[in-house]
Amino acid sequence: MCGIVGYLGQKNTKEILLNGLKELEYRGYDSAGIAVLSDGEFSSFKAVGKLINLEEKTKNFTTEGFAAGIGHTRWATHGKPTELNAHPQVGHNSYVVHNGIIENYAELKKELLEEGVVFLSQTDTEVIVHQFEKNLQNTSNAFEAFKQTISELQGAYAILLITKSEEKTIFFAKNGSPMLTGINAENEKYFASSDTPLIGECSEVNYFEDGDYGYVTQNDLVIYSKNNVKKEPSFTKLPINKLSAQKEGYRFFMEKEIYEQSSVIADTLLGRLSENKVLFDELDYNFFEGIKEIKLCACGTSYHTALCASYMFERDAKIKTSVEVASEFRYRSPIMSKDTLFVVISQSGETADTLETLKIAKKAGLKTLVICNVDNSSMVRIADRAILTRAGIEKGVASTKAFATQVTVFWMLSLYVAQIKKSLSQQEIEKQIALLRNVPASVHVEDTMHERIKRLSKRYLHGHGFFFIGRDIFFPLALEGALKLKEISYLHAEGYPSGEMKHGPIALADPELFTIALLPQNLLYEKAKSNVEELSARDSTICAISPVIFDKADDFIQTQVREHYMLEFFEMMVVVQLLSLEISIRLGNDVDMPRNLAKSVTVE
Ligand code: M6R
Repeated sequence: MCGIVGYLGQKNTKEILLNGLKELEYRGYDSAGIAVLSDGEFSSFKAVGKLINLEEKTKNFTTEGFAAGIGHTRWATHGKPTELNAHPQVGHNSYVVHNGIIENYAELKKELLEEGVVFLSQTDTEVIVHQFEKNLQNTSNAFEAFKQTISELQGAYAILLITKSEEKTIFFAKNGSPMLTGINAENEKYFASSDTPLIGECSEVNYFEDGDYGYVTQNDLVIYSKNNVKKEPSFTKLPINKLSAQKEGYRFFMEKEIYEQSSVIADTLLGRLSENKVLFDELDYNFFEGIKEIKLCACGTSYHTALCASYMFERDAKIKTSVEVASEFRYRSPIMSKDTLFVVISQSGETADTLETLKIAKKAGLKTLVICNVDNSSMVRIADRAILTRAGIEKGVASTKAFATQVTVFWMLSLYVAQIKKSLSQQEIEKQIALLRNVPASVHVEDTMHERIKRLSKRYLHGHGFFFIGRDIFFPLALEGALKLKEISYLHAEGYPSGEMKHGPIALADPELFTIALLPQNLLYEKAKSNVEELSARDSTICAISPVIFDKADDFIQTQVREHYMLEFFEMMVVVQLLSLEISIRLGNDVDMPRNLAKSVTVE
């Protein structure tokens, strides 16, 4: 949520900032801005909407020679997406960019207003720059003023501040929101919310810890820990080449990512399956010693993966499993016992709520594991063990291939635990390993299937809502289908267990209520079919997805006959993803950057 970049050096500052922001646009795209301090003068530009608007605005602006620059791409938390609310936020002589939420901003603002400070924006961020300038009046040292300011802030933040009172310096602070710094061979300094903008610019980076603050100058990088003790940076190497995602002829990244699922799942499986065993280099059997229960915590699509995992763990590994929405877990004083393995799931590894639950679990002394797509992300660095999903960069805000690879990992993981607990026969493990090898083929997008969905989609552009329904592990898939549709079409959609409809939701059934019914042949087919018939009897418009022809549906998407319900699961996952995609395209929406959303949710 919100991306920030900073640069202090001799190169083309404008270009470095804008290129960095381009890499971070997935974090927020309702407005963007930069501020550059060079030869004692500030230049600042802001634009509402996507980064391209800022590029247009800055096209006649050039930067030469030494400069300190900061930039920001915003996902609004306080105040509408307007130019005034866009960052950098300005004081008299200073500019600040911020990712996170300053929780005590109202109190600070009240005091500042009483002292006559004029606020231009509705943001929480603006208090930082005014508070800094207020503190600067009582000291001749800008760093002391910055340090004092940071000590007065509550909440989550990654902050960069530049000021005329200390021209060749960038001040920084990090608490709860991600930020790292890199230094190149010429000793120039870079900052960013994630490592991608720095790849190719610096070979080594330092990831800040929560509570770190300090400053950079031409010669120095000075870091203090939250205990106000000076500390040395801890550099890690960055890859040399940037893996930038391109659309490669697809209309949207989401479409490309749906088509990529077959190959990324093959990568997920790579080296993790032998003929008779599931192998994880990242784990060992000792790690599960004393574990009697698994607790899964995540948000959004990753939460749906957690629900899927709970079916697999209990059914195959015979281990008690519970699932929690991270934003709920963190505030409900949960009882935690050390025989529980705490597993967080996150595509980005930065989601604030999930990250916090991981910290809570670690503090309580639980063993922790993260299933994540981004190496070096905060969660990967904090958890005891990490399994990377290997989905590659996911650009579409609506997650597709990340979900597919997460579920694949959990299928393998449930077999891995089954191996340890001997809860499945060797024969069954081998059978499932053979099935796992078929997952890449089951998500291959057939042209005929895509064409059919494209044609059908025109009938689902109106109505008063959608029900996605399924039983067992197809229930979380129904939730995921509904979430995909909501996110990119802005149509109302809910996921329900098929058997739950008659307990209330069926009251909504009428021809303008569209039901997307998941009817796998190999799992509770007759039960699920009866539930769909109940809806059909109430004249709900039904689109059934099944390998078995179903004549009570208005529309029917026929999937392939497969030998196991998990292979049906993966194929139906593709169908619901494509259906959402095609509906969204017909509605003329921005599929990859849907309104009000951001790819990485680093605020709570
Ligand atoms: O990066 P994470 O997996 O932790 O993100 C969690 C959710 O924010 C994310 O899955 C969100 O729901 C997606 N937009 C779903 O498409």
